[in-house]
Amino acid sequence: MNILETKDLCKTYIVNKRQNNVLKNVSLAVGEGEMVAVMGPSGSGKSTLLYAVSGMDGITAGKVLFCGKNIAEMSQKELAVLRLDEMGFIFQQMYMLKNLTVLDNIILPAAQSKKNKEPRRETVQRCRELMRKLGISDIADNDINEVSGGQLQRACICRSMMNRPKMIFADEPTGALNRTSSDEVMEELAKLNSEGTTIMLVTHDVKVAAKCTRVLYIVDGNIKGEYNLNKCEGFSQMRERERSLNNWLLELGW
Ligand SMILES: Nc1ncnc2c1ncn2[C@@H]1O[C@H](COP(=O)(O)OP(=O)(O)O)[C@@H](O)[C@H]1O
Ligand SMILES: [Mg+2]
Repeated sequence: MNILETKDLCKTYIVNKRQNNVLKNVSLAVGEGEMVAVMGPSGSGKSTLLYAVSGMDGITAGKVLFCGKNIAEMSQKELAVLRLDEMGFIFQQMYMLKNLTVLDNIILPAAQSKKNKEPRRETVQRCRELMRKLGISDIADNDINEVSGGQLQRACICRSMMNRPKMIFADEPTGALNRTSSDEVMEELAKLNSEGTTIMLVTHDVKVAAKCTRVLYIVDGNIKGEYNLNKCEGFSQMRERERSLNNWLLELGW
């Protein structure tokens, strides 16, 4: 079953009375359990696509279906609940609240969700377990400005998972990280995916994209190509995956 589908999705920005047609009739489908990478030149519309399909921003024309529901027909309130309960977000400009500790930031979505009926004690326990898995247990009580970029990004992953979303959207989740942190973050995302969470992420990094099951290449607001990879079964295959993906990208003018 498709968790996400778009049909002739268009997004136009109007700036200083000038139209900028950023997404032009994008049709795509993401099946449950997929891990899709979106690649393409800077300014090609990757972030715009992520915002549009997750209901963070309105669309100009076409359709976006999440679990079969047309999100354009949902009220702002319904959309907010959908985003809170069924979607997780990891963005590069990490929206963490500066007056809360890392732990309190991570449990915020759970505290806000009406679907979540568990007592705070259990939420905190679940949060600590997630933080342990991501190797950031020791920063639970730190302020946001007392942690490194890699730690903060991992905290964002924890937060995106708190309400056990069906799907995670990530905009360059490793963009600000060094190779080691990037590999660690990707390992966690791949693990979440293997446990059933669907993931759509934007990346410039072939090594990151090679861990996904499919790569969409966007140029000038259109999907120019699509590359299917099998589920990644460990490190021995990585080189070959990266090499073949890289060749494909080069053919597309990467
Ligand atoms: N909020 C906005 N208002 C107006 N124009 C925007 C906005 N967001 C993005 N754009 C424009 O849309 C185009 C695509 O941007 P974006 O989706 O951020 O590209 P990418 O993520 O692929 O680098 C760019 O020309 C950008 O200037
Ligand atoms: Mg972007």
